[in-house]
Amino acid sequence: MWFANMRRKLLLGNWKMNKLSSEAKEFAIASRPLVQKAKENNIDLGVTPTYLSLAAVKENASKDMIVGAQNVHFNDHGAFTGEVSIPMLKEFGIDWCLIGHSERRTYDNETNEKCNAKIKVLIENNMVPVYCVGETLAQFEAGQTKAVVEEQVRVGLKDLTSLQVKELVVAYEPVWSIGTGKNASTEIAEDVCKFIRDVLRDMFGSVADEIRVLYGGSVKPENIKAYLSCPDVDGALVGGASLKIDSYEALLNNIL
Ligand code: PGA
Repeated sequence: MWFANMRRKLLLGNWKMNKLSSEAKEFAIASRPLVQKAKENNIDLGVTPTYLSLAAVKENASKDMIVGAQNVHFNDHGAFTGEVSIPMLKEFGIDWCLIGHSERRTYDNETNEKCNAKIKVLIENNMVPVYCVGETLAQFEAGQTKAVVEEQVRVGLKDLTSLQVKELVVAYEPVWSIGTGKNASTEIAEDVCKFIRDVLRDMFGSVADEIRVLYGGSVKPENIKAYLSCPDVDGALVGGASLKIDSYEALLNNIL
């Protein structure tokens, strides 16, 4: 029997298109003691800055800080104007990457198939994808949450083996709760995160119990503890409340 608390908790800040490189550097320096505190409490701490701030954060944060990109291209070089490749990230020591964030699905035509191509090459390159899934408000209201999320998980993780998905992280972020202040209840978060784990178990077997599933969407210092108390919620992907170091620290303090 696998107990949920064997999965290390993960608190990941998604900075989206925020912060100058100088501001990111300031945050990285200020975060050093927090990473230490998190480590002592078996919690992984990380942020996903813009491409242009990755180096500043990597160079100035604690070496135990997870630093991830927000996107990547699935080709390693070539005529893809405006894109960044895995070797380019790896040159800076970046080994985590968000994939399929709902803002990219909405504004940049990020399909489940495209996510699958990206996740495959990330894993082949020993990087950790944080695969974001979640339904829109219309889909939620139509009772389609689980069908949508299942399709995202099955197509996004197609053709991978159980050995390959061990380090993978999945983030359930209902689109209607991102940046809106409208939280999914803890019951919804647990129900869908558990459902995602069931789909993962069906696809990959018992390794599903090792895969971390996060909740994201208007997570704040005041509500993070409730989410992380759910047995199938292994951490949080946090946008707005991860931008200021005080709030980021409060998120951590409230789950210690
Ligand atoms: P939010 O964003 O915490 O600001 O709602 C979450 C996310 O988009 O990952």
